[in-house]
Amino acid sequence: MEEKNKQNSEKKLAAEKAVEFVKDGMIVGIGTGSTVFYAIKKLGELVQNGLNISAVSTSDSTTKLAGAEGIRLINLDKAVRPDINIDGADEADRNFNGIKGGGGALLFEKIVALSSVKNIWILDSSKNVEQLGKFPLPVEVIPFGYKRVLNIFKEMKYYPELRIKNNNPYLTDSGNYILDLHLEKIEDAGILDKEIKLITGVVETGLFINIADVIITGKNNSVEILRKEKL
Ligand code: A5P
Repeated sequence: MEEKNKQNSEKKLAAEKAVEFVKDGMIVGIGTGSTVFYAIKKLGELVQNGLNISAVSTSDSTTKLAGAEGIRLINLDKAVRPDINIDGADEADRNFNGIKGGGGALLFEKIVALSSVKNIWILDSSKNVEQLGKFPLPVEVIPFGYKRVLNIFKEMKYYPELRIKNNNPYLTDSGNYILDLHLEKIEDAGILDKEIKLITGVVETGLFINIADVIITGKNNSVEILRKEKL
């Protein structure tokens, strides 16, 4: 319980620091998850106090939360290029690579991230890692013929597991399945990403390589900010 409280307080610290990067008039990409929740709350508070932003959502759950906070949402294709995108991650290394998709929103998150001018990740300190892979790597696959893909991963010794929710395959916002790969260690995230994406039936992987520009980590009562370049 104490560990959970610490994580939540670090998530909140990181999220509120990230919101400081948001300026009046910006289009803001909003990721998904329990860390982003705090960013949405803070953005909502600022919007109530007059901040003028439009936001692009990465999931149905974020759309609901942001809408409830009175944040104006626009379609990605209308926004074209959000100025800034704030998102969480499941693991991040110091080379700005990470794993996302623990909450199942990796596909829309990656599309919004790649469309955005700057990407900020917000983390609690348990997610900083030396090497990626302890967190199971989510891979979004088309339901049709997914067992073929599952078997390919088995043969590759990637220890895949079909994600289940309420006794049924978990469905992403696009109606796809998720296979979680229990890799333990990822030696080269770039090579792995390319290899997996070549398999027919794979839609996207949770490997986000060199996409984040700034990583904000809550550490006890403060934050560490890692910048790829000045923001
Ligand atoms: C959603 O699919 C994920 O990519 C999240 O961004 C990631 O799992 C972080 O979520 P939490 O902030 O809930 O840990």
